[in-house]
Amino acid sequence: MNEKILIIGASGQIGIELTERLRAEYGKEAVVASDVKATTDVDPILLEGPYEVLNILDKEALHSVVKKHNINQVYLLAALLSATAEKNPAFAWELNMNGLFYVLDMAKEGILNKIYWPSSIAVFGPSTPRVMTPQDTIMDPNTVYGISKLAGERWCDYYHQKFNVDVRSIRYPGLIGYKSAPGGGTTDYAVDIFYKALQEGSYTCFLSADTALPMMMMSDAIQATVQLMQSDRSRLTVGGAYNLAGMSFTPASLTTEIQKHLPSFTTHYAPDFRQAIADSWPGSIDDSIAQRDWDWKAEYDTPTLVAKMLEEIKKKI
Ligand code: SER
Repeated sequence: MNEKILIIGASGQIGIELTERLRAEYGKEAVVASDVKATTDVDPILLEGPYEVLNILDKEALHSVVKKHNINQVYLLAALLSATAEKNPAFAWELNMNGLFYVLDMAKEGILNKIYWPSSIAVFGPSTPRVMTPQDTIMDPNTVYGISKLAGERWCDYYHQKFNVDVRSIRYPGLIGYKSAPGGGTTDYAVDIFYKALQEGSYTCFLSADTALPMMMMSDAIQATVQLMQSDRSRLTVGGAYNLAGMSFTPASLTTEIQKHLPSFTTHYAPDFRQAIADSWPGSIDDSIAQRDWDWKAEYDTPTLVAKMLEEIKKKI
Protein backbone atom coordinates (compact mmCIF):
# COMPACT_ATOMS: atom_id res chain seq x y z
CA MET A 1 0.00 0.00 0.00
CA ASN A 2 1.23 3.50 -0.77
CA GLU A 3 2.13 5.59 2.23
CA LYS A 4 -0.03 8.63 2.94
CA ILE A 5 1.54 10.26 5.95
CA LEU A 6 0.32 12.79 8.52
CA ILE A 7 2.90 14.49 10.75
CA ILE A 8 1.32 15.97 13.87
CA GLY A 9 3.38 18.66 15.60
CA ALA A 10 5.31 19.29 12.36
CA SER A 11 6.42 22.74 13.45
CA GLY A 12 8.52 21.45 16.35
CA GLN A 13 12.24 20.74 16.53
CA ILE A 14 11.95 17.23 15.06
CA GLY A 15 8.90 17.90 12.88
CA ILE A 16 10.45 20.38 10.48
CA GLU A 17 13.39 18.14 9.58
CA LEU A 18 11.25 15.01 9.51
CA THR A 19 8.74 16.66 7.16
CA GLU A 20 11.58 17.60 4.79
CA ARG A 21 13.01 14.10 4.88
CA LEU A 22 9.72 12.23 4.44
CA ARG A 23 8.69 14.49 1.55
CA ALA A 24 12.04 13.79 -0.13
CA GLU A 25 11.46 10.07 0.41
CA TYR A 26 7.77 9.67 -0.50
CA GLY A 27 6.93 12.81 -2.51
CA LYS A 28 5.55 16.16 -1.34
CA GLU A 29 1.89 15.26 -1.81
CA ALA A 30 2.24 12.04 0.20
CA VAL A 31 3.20 13.89 3.39
CA VAL A 32 0.74 16.20 5.15
CA ALA A 33 2.35 18.44 7.76
CA SER A 34 0.12 19.61 10.60
CA ASP A 35 0.52 21.72 13.69
CA VAL A 36 -1.57 23.79 16.06
CA LYS A 37 0.17 26.87 14.59
CA ALA A 38 -1.38 28.95 11.80
CA THR A 39 0.32 28.99 8.38
CA THR A 40 1.62 32.49 9.08
CA ASP A 41 3.52 31.23 12.13
CA VAL A 42 5.31 28.17 10.73
CA ASP A 43 8.55 27.64 8.82
CA PRO A 44 7.76 28.08 5.10
CA ILE A 45 9.38 24.66 4.50
CA LEU A 46 6.23 23.07 5.91
CA LEU A 47 4.10 24.88 3.33
CA GLU A 48 5.97 23.36 0.38
CA GLY A 49 3.49 20.48 0.56
CA PRO A 50 0.05 20.02 2.12
CA TYR A 51 -0.35 21.68 5.55
CA GLU A 52 -3.26 21.51 8.00
CA VAL A 53 -3.82 23.50 11.17
CA LEU A 54 -4.63 20.78 13.68
CA ASN A 55 -4.94 20.63 17.45
CA ILE A 56 -4.27 17.01 18.45
CA LEU A 57 -6.69 17.33 21.35
CA ASP A 58 -9.52 17.92 18.86
CA LYS A 59 -10.39 14.32 18.08
CA GLU A 60 -13.00 15.17 15.47
CA ALA A 61 -10.65 17.48 13.60
CA LEU A 62 -8.01 14.72 13.67
CA HIS A 63 -10.46 12.23 12.17
CA SER A 64 -11.53 14.65 9.48
CA VAL A 65 -7.94 15.48 8.43
CA VAL A 66 -7.13 11.75 8.27
CA LYS A 67 -10.23 11.15 6.16
CA LYS A 68 -9.73 14.16 3.88
CA HIS A 69 -6.19 13.08 2.92
CA ASN A 70 -6.69 9.30 3.07
CA ILE A 71 -3.95 9.07 5.70
CA ASN A 72 -2.66 5.61 6.62
CA GLN A 73 0.43 6.53 8.66
CA VAL A 74 0.82 9.03 11.49
CA TYR A 75 3.94 10.48 13.08
CA LEU A 76 2.69 11.96 16.35
CA LEU A 77 5.23 14.50 17.56
CA ALA A 78 3.03 16.99 19.43
CA ALA A 79 4.05 17.10 23.11
CA LEU A 80 5.21 19.31 25.94
CA LEU A 81 8.89 18.63 26.72
CA SER A 82 10.46 18.08 30.12
CA ALA A 83 10.97 21.61 31.45
CA THR A 84 7.64 22.99 30.21
CA ALA A 85 5.76 19.94 31.46
CA GLU A 86 7.01 20.53 35.01
CA LYS A 87 5.37 23.95 34.90
CA ASN A 88 2.03 22.67 33.67
CA PRO A 89 1.63 19.01 34.70
CA ALA A 90 -2.10 18.64 34.06
CA PHE A 91 -1.94 20.03 30.54
CA ALA A 92 1.26 18.09 29.78
CA TRP A 93 -0.43 14.84 30.78
CA GLU A 94 -3.53 15.65 28.73
CA LEU A 95 -1.55 16.62 25.63
CA ASN A 96 1.08 13.88 25.82
CA MET A 97 -1.40 11.06 26.51
CA ASN A 98 -4.76 11.86 24.89
CA GLY A 99 -3.31 12.49 21.45
CA LEU A 100 -1.58 9.12 21.63
CA PHE A 101 -4.83 7.33 22.53
CA TYR A 102 -6.69 8.99 19.63
CA VAL A 103 -4.07 7.80 17.18
CA LEU A 104 -3.69 4.30 18.67
CA ASP A 105 -7.47 3.88 18.55
CA MET A 106 -7.53 4.85 14.87
CA ALA A 107 -5.01 2.10 14.19
CA LYS A 108 -7.03 -0.35 16.27
CA GLU A 109 -10.08 0.52 14.15
CA GLY A 110 -8.08 -0.19 10.98
CA ILE A 111 -8.00 3.43 9.78
CA LEU A 112 -4.20 3.67 10.16
CA ASN A 113 -1.70 0.90 9.46
CA LYS A 114 1.44 2.36 11.06
CA ILE A 115 2.23 4.89 13.79
CA TYR A 116 5.41 6.57 14.93
CA TRP A 117 5.48 8.05 18.41
CA PRO A 118 8.66 9.37 20.05
CA SER A 119 9.79 8.36 23.52
CA SER A 120 12.77 9.78 25.38
CA ILE A 121 15.65 9.14 27.77
CA ALA A 122 13.27 10.80 30.25
CA VAL A 123 11.62 7.38 30.80
CA PHE A 124 14.57 6.60 33.07
CA GLY A 125 14.89 7.84 36.62
CA PRO A 126 17.15 8.18 39.67
CA SER A 127 17.38 4.41 40.29
CA THR A 128 18.26 3.59 36.68
CA PRO A 129 21.92 2.66 36.09
CA ARG A 130 23.38 5.89 34.66
CA VAL A 131 26.23 4.55 32.56
CA MET A 132 25.42 2.71 29.33
CA THR A 133 21.81 2.37 30.44
CA PRO A 134 20.45 -0.90 29.02
CA GLN A 135 17.24 -1.36 27.02
CA ASP A 136 15.56 -3.21 29.88
CA THR A 137 16.29 -1.84 33.31
CA ILE A 138 14.80 -0.05 36.32
CA MET A 139 12.56 2.79 35.19
CA ASP A 140 11.37 5.24 37.82
CA PRO A 141 10.93 8.59 36.02
CA ASN A 142 10.27 11.48 38.39
CA THR A 143 9.25 14.12 35.86
CA VAL A 144 5.78 14.64 34.39
CA TYR A 145 7.27 14.31 30.93
CA GLY A 146 9.10 11.07 31.79
CA ILE A 147 6.03 9.56 33.40
CA SER A 148 3.97 10.36 30.27
CA LYS A 149 6.61 8.83 28.01
CA LEU A 150 6.91 5.64 30.07
CA ALA A 151 3.12 5.28 30.23
CA GLY A 152 2.97 5.93 26.47
CA GLU A 153 5.54 3.21 25.80
CA ARG A 154 3.52 0.73 27.82
CA TRP A 155 0.32 1.67 25.94
CA CYS A 156 2.09 1.28 22.59
CA ASP A 157 3.21 -2.20 23.59
CA TYR A 158 -0.29 -3.00 24.88
CA TYR A 159 -1.96 -1.97 21.61
CA HIS A 160 0.61 -4.00 19.72
CA GLN A 161 0.08 -7.12 21.85
CA LYS A 162 -3.72 -6.94 22.11
CA PHE A 163 -4.78 -5.35 18.84
CA ASN A 164 -1.80 -5.96 16.56
CA VAL A 165 -1.30 -2.20 16.12
CA ASP A 166 1.98 -1.43 14.35
CA VAL A 167 3.35 1.41 16.47
CA ARG A 168 7.08 2.08 16.65
CA SER A 169 9.10 4.27 18.96
CA ILE A 170 12.57 5.48 19.87
CA ARG A 171 13.86 6.85 23.17
CA TYR A 172 15.56 9.91 21.74
CA PRO A 173 18.51 11.43 23.54
CA GLY A 174 18.91 15.23 23.49
CA LEU A 175 18.62 16.28 19.85
CA ILE A 176 20.96 18.88 18.38
CA GLY A 177 20.16 20.55 15.07
CA TYR A 178 20.56 23.85 13.23
CA LYS A 179 17.43 23.88 11.06
CA SER A 180 14.88 24.21 13.85
CA ALA A 181 14.94 25.38 17.43
CA PRO A 182 14.10 23.19 20.42
CA GLY A 183 11.58 24.40 22.97
CA GLY A 184 11.05 23.55 26.61
CA GLY A 185 13.57 20.74 26.97
CA THR A 186 16.38 20.11 29.45
CA THR A 187 18.87 19.30 26.70
CA ASP A 188 18.15 22.56 24.82
CA TYR A 189 21.30 24.20 26.21
CA ALA A 190 23.34 22.12 23.77
CA VAL A 191 21.73 23.95 20.84
CA ASP A 192 21.66 27.43 22.36
CA ILE A 193 25.35 27.27 23.27
CA PHE A 194 26.36 27.35 19.59
CA TYR A 195 24.39 30.54 18.87
CA LYS A 196 25.81 32.25 21.95
CA ALA A 197 29.34 31.06 21.14
CA LEU A 198 29.17 32.65 17.70
CA GLN A 199 27.15 35.75 18.60
CA GLU A 200 28.37 36.66 22.08
CA GLY A 201 31.52 34.66 22.77
CA SER A 202 30.18 33.35 26.08
CA TYR A 203 27.29 31.30 27.37
CA THR A 204 25.53 30.93 30.70
CA CYS A 205 24.47 27.32 31.10
CA PHE A 206 21.45 26.24 33.17
CA LEU A 207 23.12 22.89 33.95
CA SER A 208 26.31 22.35 35.93
CA ALA A 209 29.65 21.82 34.16
CA ASP A 210 29.82 18.08 34.79
CA THR A 211 26.25 17.04 33.86
CA ALA A 212 26.70 14.23 31.34
CA LEU A 213 23.73 13.55 29.06
CA PRO A 214 23.22 11.42 25.96
CA MET A 215 22.93 13.54 22.81
CA MET A 216 22.50 13.08 19.08
CA MET A 217 22.76 15.07 15.87
CA MET A 218 19.29 15.69 14.44
CA SER A 219 20.18 14.17 11.06
CA ASP A 220 21.04 10.92 12.86
CA ALA A 221 17.73 10.98 14.74
CA ILE A 222 15.80 11.52 11.50
CA GLN A 223 17.73 8.71 9.80
CA ALA A 224 17.00 6.40 12.75
CA THR A 225 13.29 7.24 12.65
CA VAL A 226 12.95 6.53 8.93
CA GLN A 227 15.06 3.39 9.23
CA LEU A 228 12.95 2.04 12.09
CA MET A 229 9.70 2.81 10.26
CA GLN A 230 10.93 1.08 7.09
CA SER A 231 12.18 -2.02 8.92
CA ASP A 232 10.48 -5.36 8.56
CA ARG A 233 8.22 -5.62 11.63
CA SER A 234 9.21 -9.25 12.10
CA ARG A 235 12.75 -8.12 13.01
CA LEU A 236 11.57 -5.82 15.80
CA THR A 237 11.83 -7.41 19.24
CA VAL A 238 10.94 -4.32 21.27
CA GLY A 239 7.24 -3.58 21.67
CA GLY A 240 7.75 -0.27 23.46
CA ALA A 241 10.58 2.07 22.43
CA TYR A 242 14.19 1.46 21.39
CA ASN A 243 17.19 2.88 23.22
CA LEU A 244 19.21 5.01 20.80
CA ALA A 245 22.68 6.48 21.31
CA GLY A 246 24.80 9.00 19.49
CA MET A 247 27.30 10.55 21.88
CA SER A 248 27.51 11.79 25.46
CA PHE A 249 28.96 15.04 26.69
CA THR A 250 28.86 17.49 29.58
CA PRO A 251 28.57 21.27 29.25
CA ALA A 252 32.28 21.43 30.16
CA SER A 253 33.42 18.91 27.56
CA LEU A 254 31.19 20.53 24.91
CA THR A 255 32.77 23.88 25.79
CA THR A 256 36.25 22.40 25.34
CA GLU A 257 35.28 21.08 21.94
CA ILE A 258 33.86 24.46 20.87
CA GLN A 259 37.05 26.16 22.10
CA LYS A 260 39.01 24.16 19.53
CA HIS A 261 37.23 26.35 16.95
CA LEU A 262 36.68 29.49 19.04
CA PRO A 263 39.55 29.64 21.58
CA SER A 264 38.23 32.63 23.53
CA PHE A 265 34.76 31.12 24.12
CA THR A 266 33.76 30.71 27.77
CA THR A 267 30.85 29.10 29.58
CA HIS A 268 29.50 30.17 32.98
CA TYR A 269 27.28 27.98 35.08
CA ALA A 270 24.01 28.93 36.76
CA PRO A 271 22.06 25.70 37.28
CA ASP A 272 18.29 26.13 37.70
CA PHE A 273 15.36 23.73 38.21
CA ARG A 274 16.39 21.81 35.10
CA GLN A 275 19.47 20.49 36.92
CA ALA A 276 17.29 18.12 38.95
CA ILE A 277 15.67 16.84 35.75
CA ALA A 278 19.06 16.21 34.14
CA ASP A 279 20.35 14.53 37.32
CA SER A 280 17.56 11.96 37.08
CA TRP A 281 18.50 10.94 33.53
CA PRO A 282 21.22 8.62 32.23
CA GLY A 283 24.63 9.89 31.18
CA SER A 284 25.03 7.38 28.37
CA ILE A 285 22.88 4.80 26.60
CA ASP A 286 23.40 1.22 25.38
CA ASP A 287 21.63 0.90 22.03
CA SER A 288 22.89 -2.55 21.03
CA ILE A 289 19.32 -3.86 20.54
CA ALA A 290 18.59 -1.16 17.93
CA GLN A 291 21.90 -1.99 16.24
CA ARG A 292 20.94 -5.66 16.14
CA ASP A 293 17.25 -5.34 15.20
CA TRP A 294 17.39 -2.65 12.53
CA ASP A 295 21.08 -2.06 11.78
CA TRP A 296 21.26 1.26 13.59
CA LYS A 297 24.54 3.19 13.55
CA ALA A 298 25.04 6.89 14.37
CA GLU A 299 27.14 8.98 12.02
CA TYR A 300 28.08 11.93 14.26
CA ASP A 301 30.32 12.04 17.31
CA THR A 302 30.99 15.14 19.43
CA PRO A 303 33.84 16.63 17.32
CA THR A 304 31.95 16.21 14.02
CA LEU A 305 28.74 17.55 15.58
CA VAL A 306 30.49 20.65 16.91
CA ALA A 307 32.21 21.36 13.58
CA LYS A 308 28.94 20.96 11.66
CA MET A 309 26.86 23.06 14.09
CA LEU A 310 29.36 25.95 14.03
CA GLU A 311 29.65 25.84 10.23
CA GLU A 312 25.88 25.83 9.64
CA ILE A 313 24.94 28.37 12.31
CA LYS A 314 27.65 30.73 11.06
CA LYS A 315 25.91 30.68 7.66
CA LYS A 316 22.56 31.45 9.28
CA ILE A 317 23.49 34.43 11.42
N1 SER B 1 15.23 16.53 24.94
C1 SER B 1 14.07 16.31 25.73
C2 SER B 1 13.99 17.26 26.86
O1 SER B 1 15.01 17.76 27.25
C3 SER B 1 14.08 14.93 26.26
O2 SER B 1 13.32 14.11 25.47
O3 SER B 1 12.95 17.46 27.37
